[in-house]
Amino acid sequence: MAYAATHLLNHTLGLVSLEALAAGRHVFARFWLFAPVQAILVIAFLVHLVLGLARLWQRTTWRMPFWEAIQLVLGLAIPLLGALHIMGTFVIERCCGVRGSYVFVLAGLWPGQAWRQTAFVLAVWIHGCIGVHYWLRLKPGYRRAQRWLVLPAVLLPCLALLGFVDGGRAVLTRAALDPAWLPELARVDRWPDTATAAWVYATEDRIVWVLASLIFGIVVVDLLRGALARRRNRVRVTYDGGRTIAFRRGATLLEVSRAFGIAHAAVCGGRGRCSTCRVRVTRGLEEQPAPSPAERRVLERIGAEADVRLACQLRPTHDLAVTMLMQADTNALGALRKMDPSQGSEREIAVMFADLRDFTRISETRLPYDVVFLLNRYFTVMGAAIEREGGHVDKFVGDGIMALFGLEKGPAEGARASLAAAAAMAEALSALNDELAHELKAPLRMGVGIHAGPTIVGELGYRRAVSLTAIGDTVNTASRLEALTKELSAQLVVSVHLVELAALDLPAARPAEVELRGRRARLPVLAFTDARDAWPAAAMESEPAAGAWNRWLATLLGR
Ligand code: FES
Repeated sequence: MAYAATHLLNHTLGLVSLEALAAGRHVFARFWLFAPVQAILVIAFLVHLVLGLARLWQRTTWRMPFWEAIQLVLGLAIPLLGALHIMGTFVIERCCGVRGSYVFVLAGLWPGQAWRQTAFVLAVWIHGCIGVHYWLRLKPGYRRAQRWLVLPAVLLPCLALLGFVDGGRAVLTRAALDPAWLPELARVDRWPDTATAAWVYATEDRIVWVLASLIFGIVVVDLLRGALARRRNRVRVTYDGGRTIAFRRGATLLEVSRAFGIAHAAVCGGRGRCSTCRVRVTRGLEEQPAPSPAERRVLERIGAEADVRLACQLRPTHDLAVTMLMQADTNALGALRKMDPSQGSEREIAVMFADLRDFTRISETRLPYDVVFLLNRYFTVMGAAIEREGGHVDKFVGDGIMALFGLEKGPAEGARASLAAAAAMAEALSALNDELAHELKAPLRMGVGIHAGPTIVGELGYRRAVSLTAIGDTVNTASRLEALTKELSAQLVVSVHLVELAALDLPAARPAEVELRGRRARLPVLAFTDARDAWPAAAMESEPAAGAWNRWLATLLGR
């Protein structure tokens, strides 16, 4: 693509003049015709061609997403369309001592071969752009950069083709005005004679025939292989929905899904890079071929368990049953995401619920715009306080907030962080009340409930409404503790278990035992009239250095 891009850039100079084209070529050739660079380029081209044909050979289904099909067709067309151009430049410059120049190429191509050259340029460029897109779409920042990359991706070939047209016409015009110009150039630059030109065309014909036959042969043999394999060499895969499919041995699991119309995520297009095609093999894992080093690398990167495989790399040799682990419409954001959050796991964490008191009454007396403004201000300061303490804001529901703590650092750290966050939220609410004092008849009040315990953590939802969340009894208990703040006239109610996990001594707490719906035993809790008492100065002093640093940084940044 680097070669193609600079080559097209050179073509655009045709819009200026033939001399500009020649000057651009001089710079272009100095780099690309430097022997080591040239060697790399030729090797890259041949390797790409061989890998492409090998991939074609390995294919067991012709069903594929639209853009992949376009890329394949264009990729196959490139050597067929470009054979003459390569013979007429690269080969004859080396074999026949011709001194290459733009005028020589334009005189040969314009106007008779213009359509073919245009198709060649477009095939190379579009094929390459699709490849680059599939490669970059897994990189952070690409989504933002994408809209800016579209501009050169469209503009460059357009300008290059216009430069080609202008250059071709300029050659014709100059040749008409000065009939001696082209013959003189042909003599000086040793342009090929008629016999050599005939040899070029004949060789190009042969190359096209060989390549076309090779491609045709691969397709025909593949269809025959498919027909034969339909009778024997059958392997059966059972998907988690219960559907069983028999297919020919040698196909990847992703190809099977595609061939039989089963929606299967594959962000990188089956190149073994993104991991979104991953499946859990629930039966028949031992008999399958071991993962290749490349597949193993990707699986290790996402922390996959031993029974997880990449569907685009696994070519089942025996019957198996699989469960898909990513939703079919997973996008690049889901690629290479660690297994745990997305697949669900049981973890002990701290869960917080916070709610604005009497907000319904407040909102009844205000304009909808004011209500939205007020809630957004509230969510902003509360969300910042939670995140500053290392919590994960799970969701905002109405005027309520649900947050998780200890997802990464474990329950003890999570318990401490949740208490620190509750204190920070109380502080932030007090500051918000001062800020809005002239707008509010009465200060905003909130109730916070926190409990720690085992939960199921995973990504739940549908399509765009998927988020990392927790479910289970701990979540329900935390929600009920929040509701209890009214009854206990407290700003914060936490379970004793949470405080034990945090290993804090909290003298300002009012102990109580409460009965919660759905629980047989009474739950010992601690109530705090002011949540700031749940994170005493002593705890702040013993705060780990990193926490203190983050707090200082956050203060500095005004968060
Ligand atoms: S489709 Fe990307 S790794 Fe399999």
